[in-house]
Amino acid sequence: MYTPKVMPPPRITHAIEWARGKTRRLIQRVVPAPLGVLELASGWMMTQALCAAAALGIADVLVDGPRSADRIAAEVGADPDATYRLLRALAGHGVFIELPDRCFALNSMADTLRADSPRTVRPVLLMVGHPIVWAARGQLVESVATGRSGHELAHGIQAFDQMAANPELASGFNDAMRVTTQMAERAILSAYDFSRFARIVDVGGGSGYLLAAILRSAPRAKGIVYDLTAATAEAGKIFTGAGVTERAAIENGSFFDATPAGADAYVLKHIIHDWPDEQALQILHSVRRAIAPRGRLLLIECVVPRRNSAHLSVWLDIEVMLAIGGRERTGAEYTELLARAGFLVRRIVPTIGPHSIIEAVPNRSGLPLT
Ligand SMILES: C[S@@+](CC[C@H](N)C(=O)[O-])C[C@H]1O[C@@H](n2cnc3c(N)ncnc32)[C@H](O)[C@@H]1O
Repeated sequence: MYTPKVMPPPRITHAIEWARGKTRRLIQRVVPAPLGVLELASGWMMTQALCAAAALGIADVLVDGPRSADRIAAEVGADPDATYRLLRALAGHGVFIELPDRCFALNSMADTLRADSPRTVRPVLLMVGHPIVWAARGQLVESVATGRSGHELAHGIQAFDQMAANPELASGFNDAMRVTTQMAERAILSAYDFSRFARIVDVGGGSGYLLAAILRSAPRAKGIVYDLTAATAEAGKIFTGAGVTERAAIENGSFFDATPAGADAYVLKHIIHDWPDEQALQILHSVRRAIAPRGRLLLIECVVPRRNSAHLSVWLDIEVMLAIGGRERTGAEYTELLARAGFLVRRIVPTIGPHSIIEAVPNRSGLPLT
């Protein structure tokens, strides 16, 4: 688990992101448009190549040093020629290093595919390439045509309902969420001081990873991770590992019905973006009924910037449209949605990553009509 250190100010990292976007567009302009478009369209190959390397555990067998493609294939139980071709393609894009005689070695990018790497992204790739998830991602035409979630179109069931019935899928999803939260942890904790709160509820907090990190940064606070039963299976272990067991509890239930009452901070990371306005309002109403009068609602989301760009939020928007029928929102849209639920946005705090923290307080004119 990271501890917050001195971090660069968000405007520096955002300027770097802006420059990367500009460079990408400049590079596109030096090739003919049909080629530029087909280059963009080949993104699925890279996605699948990374998912395959991660699923087969190829990076894991290179931890003791370079190996030939034949030996890698024998160790992971794959076809030698296909393994060589996969690694050659990835090495051409800077993931793995290709050496003479069809040998390959790890580099820092390839190392993130290892299960045991402290910087692993393997659980995310396993989820992206999971056949159930990939089938839903293939529904974009229908999704855009109908406005329905790709997951429901592909499988006839809402994603979280399917996870409730499929522990393997739920566990893979929770692992992936834990990894992405781990990557955002430092940015979030260095942007916002949680130590002024006494009771914190992480609504839809999954495996409790973010709550554990928050409690470590706020040594006097107690916390509850609140989520469906399928999501919190690992939370006890995570609280123990973080040394916060005495101050952290697990409660199960649906945020559409209620959330634990009386806390002074309610954290919702990547929750509201999963839902269209009607359901998002139901969740916010649950929090509004539960929150202490001077409490803080903290939505951690990728807010869509005012100027169109390649910001992660606009692609995450497509992802949540397909996965669950949700949407990313602009700051103005969050402000309006929260007002309808009886909250007043105090500020939107940028982090050095793609997330912002939308801080809201219950308005004084009483509970909204539900
Ligand atoms: C996108 S994940 C975010 C998890 C976590 N907050 C994070 O950012 O890592 C959405 C979470 O909402 C939870 N969830 C979905 N439906 C729920 C419901 N009806 N009540 C409570 N939690 C729910 C899921 O189990 C999942 O953990």
